Amino acid sequence: MTTLTAMTAPTPMNEPSPRAMHGKPNAMPNATPNATRQAGEGAPISLEARQVSKSFLSGVVRLHVLQSLSIAIRAAELTLISGPSGCGKSTLLSLLSGLQSPDAGQAWALGQDLGRLNKRQLERFRLQHTGFVFQGFNLFPALTAREQVQLPLGYLGLDNRESARRAMLALDEVGMAQRADAYPAQLSGGEKQRVAIARALAKEPQLLFADEPTSALDADNGQKIIDILHRIARSHGTTVLCVSHDPRVVRHADRVLTMEDGMIRNDWLPSRAPGLADVPPPARAQEIPA
Ligand SMILES: Nc1ncnc2c1ncn2[C@@H]1O[C@H](COP(=O)(O)OP(=O)(O)OP(=O)(O)O)[C@@H](O)[C@H]1O
Ligand SMILES: [Mg+2]
Repeated sequence: MTTLTAMTAPTPMNEPSPRAMHGKPNAMPNATPNATRQAGEGAPISLEARQVSKSFLSGVVRLHVLQSLSIAIRAAELTLISGPSGCGKSTLLSLLSGLQSPDAGQAWALGQDLGRLNKRQLERFRLQHTGFVFQGFNLFPALTAREQVQLPLGYLGLDNRESARRAMLALDEVGMAQRADAYPAQLSGGEKQRVAIARALAKEPQLLFADEPTSALDADNGQKIIDILHRIARSHGTTVLCVSHDPRVVRHADRVLTMEDGMIRNDWLPSRAPGLADVPPPARAQEIPA
């Protein structure tokens, strides 16, 4: 396997890591304003990969999926990771969300080095601070939309009344309050995904991870899902990290990281390139000396 070179966005990586952020997502400290940024302008860095490497054994071959990759991601932005199948997008997402650990390097989330947490602490961290949305919706067939959203809130220790209130608020936010009593079989793909987003949102997570959330949807529904994710980032100050190879999604992201062969090849802001939304500009990533 060819040795890979770590690349990253210059600005965020030169800034210090934030201290752990507590409380509600909106309660975020403001950093120095930066005229070149828009969406998450001034928001702290909330996710960081520092020289992370990850490989898998496939038969007798070791596959180097990520090698010395560094990246920093801000709160209040919808950051998109795009790139060809197998380039390591989901692997990077799983390292930054603490679902897997890197072979080398560090994954930081909300100012916490995830490698320093034991299994139980990691589970707690994910429960309290993260929400996940997947391509396949992952809804329980026997539960109504309201019950799907309410279920994880019980694990957070909320009583039935409060979890029901929060579930309805979250369903309302994704335009699904009217369908609260519907079962998955009675919902369209787009509606199911909105319920899945409400389920993640109801926990009021500071970090929201979405892996190919629009892949199973038509253009209109995919668009709605991305609009919702974008709005969540803006209105709640949530860090939304979304993996997608859907080119239609790109123009709606605040920032796009293009991956190839386990490296970040491009790091760009679509809103700063009007008319060029589908054409990534040349890389603004910088090499980190080995
Ligand atoms: N647990 C594992 N064991 C072995 N190989 C793995 C494992 N997880 C991922 N891989 C391999 O690592 C590479 C990157 O996988 P990853 O799922 O991160 O790709 P991806 O960019 O998300 O692709 P896609 O767009 O198809 O979802 C692939 O070649 C995959 O087969
Ligand atoms: Mg994937």
